[in-house]
Amino acid sequence: MLEALPFPAVLIDQNALVESSNAGAAALLGPGLQGRSFDLFIRQPALLAAIASARAGGEPEPVSLPGDPPFLVHVRRSKSGVLVMWQDQSEADALGRMRRDFVANVSHELRTPLTSLMGFVETLQGVAGDDPAARGRFLSIMDREARRMNRLIGDLLSLSTVEANERVRPRDPIALATLVQTVLQRMTPQSHGGRLVTDLAEIPEIPGDADQLGQAIANLVENALRYGKRGGDVIIKLGEIDDPILMRRVAALSVEDQGDGIPAHHIPRLTERFYRVDNHRSRELGGTGLGLAIVKHIITRHRGRLKIESQPQKGSVFTILLPLS
Ligand SMILES: Nc1ncnc2c1ncn2[C@@H]1O[C@H](COP(=O)(O)OP(=O)(O)OP(=O)(O)O)[C@@H](O)[C@H]1O
Ligand SMILES: [Mg+2]
Repeated sequence: MLEALPFPAVLIDQNALVESSNAGAAALLGPGLQGRSFDLFIRQPALLAAIASARAGGEPEPVSLPGDPPFLVHVRRSKSGVLVMWQDQSEADALGRMRRDFVANVSHELRTPLTSLMGFVETLQGVAGDDPAARGRFLSIMDREARRMNRLIGDLLSLSTVEANERVRPRDPIALATLVQTVLQRMTPQSHGGRLVTDLAEIPEIPGDADQLGQAIANLVENALRYGKRGGDVIIKLGEIDDPILMRRVAALSVEDQGDGIPAHHIPRLTERFYRVDNHRSRELGGTGLGLAIVKHIITRHRGRLKIESQPQKGSVFTILLPLS
């Protein structure tokens, strides 16, 4: 019976002896448990107290045991004795930590522009309010900060929308070349001084979600313009290849810039939420650090992958690989 449980478990009989146990319990507590008294191998006072309480007819709360891995131990009364089950908490702890980090990050990202806004409101309520030149300058800073908060909230909302639908693979037929052109028309490279150069092959339509793929492409092109070389070209290529990792024929859409590139140790972390290589520069340029996290989720939903290659001083290539059918 206990053998079927996916975690360590022992059953203790009326005489305080181990009646049965599983392989998980042997790995955790050592071999030869059967027929021995449980207090020979369970030593934690909190757990002993819970077992004593269950043996006396009580219903003890689960016992949390720190360690590596941390366990939450459930102690239950059964007909023939007391059942003790060790539930591995590593994953739950990691999830909890991620959630807390995320909330802390969001709060921090919102508080910075908000603090600045409040500061300027206060300044304008004072003597500076009567000085038209100062007023104009402060209002334009306030406008910028308000827009940053607005963008951050927009990004958070699209991240949660994409995440919520991640398991549902989108299936509208998408002509990627046309989609790329539509997206590029909406962008304004002039302000960055760079040119957008395209090399788009005719490839079969792929199953996808046009809005999301458009958003992913726009994010990559925006990054290339933002972090690429001033006045340098951004090259967008579309073709089809055999991908050894996805092990199938895929559409390959790459966005290449001639910027400073990204040091190798940052690359695996770029798609984490709020991760920025150069915090100051990204913020200065209006970045929220959520762009690539959104791109990654969109591509995952499409069962594809994102490849990032970068050479310091030469530039970066971000490639979206999407299954062709
Ligand atoms: N083409 C690139 N060249 C160099 N660094 C890049 C490039 N693309 C992204 N990065 C680095 O990766 C970080 C994360 O990018 P991401 O798009 O997730 O956030 P962001 O651009 O800062 O903000 P957002 O896209 O939300 O406005 C950036 O801050 C930047 O440091
Ligand atoms: Mg970005």
